[in-house]
Amino acid sequence: MTTYTFPHNFLWGAATAAYQIEGAWNEDGKGESIWDRFSHTPGKVTDGDTGDVACDHYHRYPEDIALMRQLGLKAYRFSTAWARDMPSGRGRINPKGLDFYDHLLDALCAANIEPFLTLYHWDLPQALQGEGGWENRNTCYAFADYAALMVKRLGDRVKYWTTFNEPSVVTFDGNLTGEHAPGNKDPKVAYQVAHNLMVAHGLAVQAIRGANSNVDAGIVLNLWMADPATDSPEDVAAAEAAWDRNETLFLDPIFKGHYPPSAYEVVSENMPKVHDGDMALIAQELDFLGVNFYSRNVISATQKIDKIPGSEYTEMGWEVCAPALRRMLVKINNNYSLPPIYITENGSSFKDEVSADGKVHDPCRLGYLKNHFIQTHLAMQDGVDVRGYMVWSLFDNFEWGHGFSKRFGLVRVDYETQKRTVKDSGEWYADVIRANQIHE
Ligand code: FCB
Repeated sequence: MTTYTFPHNFLWGAATAAYQIEGAWNEDGKGESIWDRFSHTPGKVTDGDTGDVACDHYHRYPEDIALMRQLGLKAYRFSTAWARDMPSGRGRINPKGLDFYDHLLDALCAANIEPFLTLYHWDLPQALQGEGGWENRNTCYAFADYAALMVKRLGDRVKYWTTFNEPSVVTFDGNLTGEHAPGNKDPKVAYQVAHNLMVAHGLAVQAIRGANSNVDAGIVLNLWMADPATDSPEDVAAAEAAWDRNETLFLDPIFKGHYPPSAYEVVSENMPKVHDGDMALIAQELDFLGVNFYSRNVISATQKIDKIPGSEYTEMGWEVCAPALRRMLVKINNNYSLPPIYITENGSSFKDEVSADGKVHDPCRLGYLKNHFIQTHLAMQDGVDVRGYMVWSLFDNFEWGHGFSKRFGLVRVDYETQKRTVKDSGEWYADVIRANQIHE
């Protein structure tokens, strides 16, 4: 048996996002967000689901924090809903919105759980979308003001501040395929959004530091490993190009201060407008990098690869391939000079059933997590500086375009009754945290 012991201060946690769990979409003065608008538009989300109520976390957060304690979480990653705090995205502040996060943080501190706060997890105030959203550079300045407001109000209790969650998903799903809010399908818009998100990130990091010099600032990127289907030079080149289009496109500006030439070759006429000084602004020094990892893409130069024979797939249709996490971490560690890394999301959706004993036996999720924890440990032995791990997700929740049809939680949510049930994977995770080690 092999035992993998983690460093004593390793930050084990779980993650959520505001729109996916809070509900209370129009309560206490909250403004409309692009996800409210999108989910209320017929045909956009599976089964017409919306985040209007979701996990009702807005009203149930004390009970939810009690659950986090029960699991022994050391950290909790969540996002704040911009439109709850500033209903129109700029200008007027909604005191009740800020009070909610104040109370949440007081309760987290009392429970001795380290908060990891994300300022933008996809729910742009609809009023700003009305002015062009992220395609409009003014949104970047509004975001920096929002960041400053939040840090001034909450920076005494929150050390870890994340500007954006997964700018690539905002770019491609929100503005190229249109599967996410705001539902644009326009490459020119998408690449301008990609650049503006980077500018907004740079401005927000400056705003965060200006508001409180004691807090840490970072960004969360989703990094899917791109593996060549074969060793042929064509497949290897195709895999590298795919990695550049999705990952290097964001890693290079942030950590090298320029765009990868290869990534923008493909977009030629859709090249975004870049102002003088933007690249230096984007490449702010960061205190941490958040990495979200779920799966890998297998790339061939000649064919689209759908399923790898013999591989396991999750309900999302994503291949389960834990070794790709280690290889990806080593790759970015070799290619960049990185700050400490936190795995800010990792997890899986499987069809869970409530058994006759009232429990949720989810061996696939448990196995998925175990193997990814081990691969992370191996990457740490390879020299990658990983400081913590947030499982996606604490709860089953609103999975964007899939609505409630996909369950990622360590804790099951019955959406009829809002009853929470810790799954086997959640109980196992509590043991891992307590022991700070895994046996294989
Ligand atoms: C990530 C998102 C997160 C969740 C997981 C499954 O891309 O950041 O909100 O939807 O995927």
